[in-house]
Amino acid sequence: MTGSVGRRAFLTGAAATAAAIVAGCSSDGGSDGEAAGTATTTAGGGAPATTPTTSAAPPDLGGDPFTLGVASGDPTAEAVVIWTRLAPDPLADDGAGGMPDDDVEVIWEVATDAAFAAKDLVAAGTFTATAALGHSVHVDVTGLDAGTDYHYRFTVGATTSPVGRTRTLADGSPERFALAIANCQMLESGAYGAYRQMVEEDLDLVVHLGDYIYEYPGDGKGGRSPAPARALATLADYRIRYGSYKTDPDLRAAHARFPFVATWDDHDVANNYMGDTLPGDPDTADGVALKTAAYQAWWEHLPVRLDPPTGDALAVYRAFAVGDLVRLHLLDERQDAAVPPCRPATGYPTDYGDCDARIAEGEDRTRLGPDQEAWLETSLAEGGVTWNLLGNPVVLAGVDAGTDSAGYWLDTWDGYPQARERLIAQLAEASNPVVLTGDYHAGMTLDVRATPFDQESPIVATEFMSPPISSVLFPQDVSPRTPQLREQLNNHGYLTVEVTPTQLTAAFRVLDDVADAASGITTASTWIVDAGTPTARRA
Ligand SMILES: [Fe+2]
Repeated sequence: MTGSVGRRAFLTGAAATAAAIVAGCSSDGGSDGEAAGTATTTAGGGAPATTPTTSAAPPDLGGDPFTLGVASGDPTAEAVVIWTRLAPDPLADDGAGGMPDDDVEVIWEVATDAAFAAKDLVAAGTFTATAALGHSVHVDVTGLDAGTDYHYRFTVGATTSPVGRTRTLADGSPERFALAIANCQMLESGAYGAYRQMVEEDLDLVVHLGDYIYEYPGDGKGGRSPAPARALATLADYRIRYGSYKTDPDLRAAHARFPFVATWDDHDVANNYMGDTLPGDPDTADGVALKTAAYQAWWEHLPVRLDPPTGDALAVYRAFAVGDLVRLHLLDERQDAAVPPCRPATGYPTDYGDCDARIAEGEDRTRLGPDQEAWLETSLAEGGVTWNLLGNPVVLAGVDAGTDSAGYWLDTWDGYPQARERLIAQLAEASNPVVLTGDYHAGMTLDVRATPFDQESPIVATEFMSPPISSVLFPQDVSPRTPQLREQLNNHGYLTVEVTPTQLTAAFRVLDDVADAASGITTASTWIVDAGTPTARRA
């Protein structure tokens, strides 16, 4: 396939691809008609592509524009999004990354070999980065071969970026698919030794379940303080914060090594926000303002096949199929969630008093919002795959962290019991559902029962909660009041998930010392789920 792909075509193409693999979450509009990118692509196996030249004079950016590294994401069997953001001064206080207001032409290249010899070039083009979108670059490279490694890079003027490697998803009947779950990477509470170790793994994909950034001013714990030194409030603030995180070389290396599929949790906007509501703030206008700024910055900094957000709305739920082996359903559990019960004026939405009664009363409240809930029901029912993996930011199976009496974290699914029962009932109808979770700052293996906490209720799925990359642990032992808990691991690290037609193997990879970027890593625990049996067994 050879063609010219302008920004309108990019957006249309994204929406069209989304229709095939991302039912329900793509915007069908979004193009303002501005020709912000052009590309020529050659399908894998065809004649080599040619690197274009730019007509515009290369701008004097006063430094390396590729300080934030490169990334790829949202792979399909024939396409992948490649990303960078031009920022010669990523911590510049206006959030512009040291860039002028001008548009900048960026050359991009994709090759089958990291040396980028002309014979190995399979796709190339130019993309016009604009100040309105933070000079971010998202190119949806199409016409690629399934299950194939590619290398990519960007050039502005005389400066060429580091080379990234990516991989399209397999199609047909793959024998193996492997991913890692990453989440909760507070910069000020630890080093990114987890990512340094992750790049050595044999993975097809990294799935990020949120808390990619934290919004706090930062207190220098662990020897690192993220910029800006203030609670995030504006688009500029969030851009600087992403820039600050991406100064970490191990995070950049992980992005350059593997394609990512990302959703978000609360700290990507603000602690414990739900829908338009911030804890302790009755004025939803404040929540909407933060969502608007945070969603745009998230979009600008992650390699996603999504149109830019419109105001405070960005539908990020989507699904990815790997042949007939796996479908990964990725959820957003914050944007449209109702406010949980018994929310105190300040602090955490947990309660040790009459919340139980309110939950028992059956007060229904939505977690996913009606559009996403309907989409998920359809996506889970689509079938045609052996395994259905749920990318689920917050714990589903239920955790009672109380001591003398019940203590639920009501911003988890424990605050949404009716919506949870609906979701679990949908999972029960799907082929081999396995729930992959983040948020909690611990590793856990749990039985998802049709009625959580009822040990007489049938097991529908196993839930694996990934340890945090670096965020402060929540080490309290929740086993006394959480009978569905199989294991709790109070460590940093990540979870690897390897899938074959007959087995799913989940390995908890844990760091020796989160403060040390050169930390060693070990496998603390390995669990197997056999196809046809929802209950995990130890390897
Ligand atoms: Fe977190």
